[in-house]
Amino acid sequence: MRSSTPPAVSTPSASTVEFSSYLQAFGDRTVLTDVDLTVPAGELLVILGPSGCGKSTLLRSAAGLGTPTSGSVLIDGEAVTDGDERTAFAFQEPRLLPWRTLEKNTEIGLPRGTAKDASRTEVARLLDLVGLTGRGALRPREVSGGMAQRVSLARALARRPGVLLLDEPFGALDALTRLQMQDLLLAIHDEQPTTVLLVTHDVDEAVHIADRIVVLGPVSESPDAPATVVRDIRLDEPRPRDRGSAELAHVRADLLSALGIDTGASRSTSARGSQHRAEDRTRVS
Ligand SMILES: Nc1ncnc2c1ncn2[C@@H]1O[C@H](COP(=O)(O)OP(=O)(O)OP(=O)(O)O)[C@@H](O)[C@H]1O
Ligand SMILES: [Mg+2]
Repeated sequence: MRSSTPPAVSTPSASTVEFSSYLQAFGDRTVLTDVDLTVPAGELLVILGPSGCGKSTLLRSAAGLGTPTSGSVLIDGEAVTDGDERTAFAFQEPRLLPWRTLEKNTEIGLPRGTAKDASRTEVARLLDLVGLTGRGALRPREVSGGMAQRVSLARALARRPGVLLLDEPFGALDALTRLQMQDLLLAIHDEQPTTVLLVTHDVDEAVHIADRIVVLGPVSESPDAPATVVRDIRLDEPRPRDRGSAELAHVRADLLSALGIDTGASRSTSARGSQHRAEDRTRVS
């Protein structure tokens, strides 16, 4: 799965993403407000939040798909441009071209003008990286959902993005495949370091993979209240992480509580958790 072949196309380094005083409104409705968030180069940031709070909107802004109503989004200090080439997106559905092979679907992600030989080498490297060695000649209908999603990741990585934007990338997969894909993403992040912003609804997934987790939530109890960052938690727990770790259990409980879910666990860990909840900007080590 992990290739030692060097990349055949140029390798931009991971980029820093910076949202400053970011506000996004649609018509007269403000969806996100006061987002000040810097994602350092190479960080794997997970974004959690209730449905409809603006997670996808935030990711789209990082790709330059839509302009913030006010404030700014910078990549390496420069404003994002429309469909910014420094970013790549992958979604819940793999969105592959059904009539193209997995190889061709991956190749589509390569920067325009990549020479034929370099393309062939790079596609092979990417398919190897996502655990699809020797499967490149198959077509999407011949592979499982998990395999299709691996190709979607390979296609996104083909751009050598400084920022990889993943919107619920494993949300449609069965539970076991999902766990495998989480570990695959960590392996890929090791092999081809890039800044990752990943949206999920799965608190366990967040706790397993993230360097840092931000939770978006409403600024007030009013039904139309816009969302902002209500938790910002750094996880220094070494990898591979034990999915049953007690240390992570109270982070999980804290996240569930931030998402408005009252669990017995959150009550029983409230004494420990309170030190992490004391401030909006929190570090868990
Ligand atoms: N282009 C648009 N025009 C108008 N409203 C929009 C637009 N894009 C998003 N919205 C609205 O902004 C809000 C946030 O949408 P968004 O898709 O970012 O939420 P989300 O947190 O990703 O939700 P989910 O978890 O269900 O995917 C929603 O109320 C949505 O209807
Ligand atoms: Mg969404």
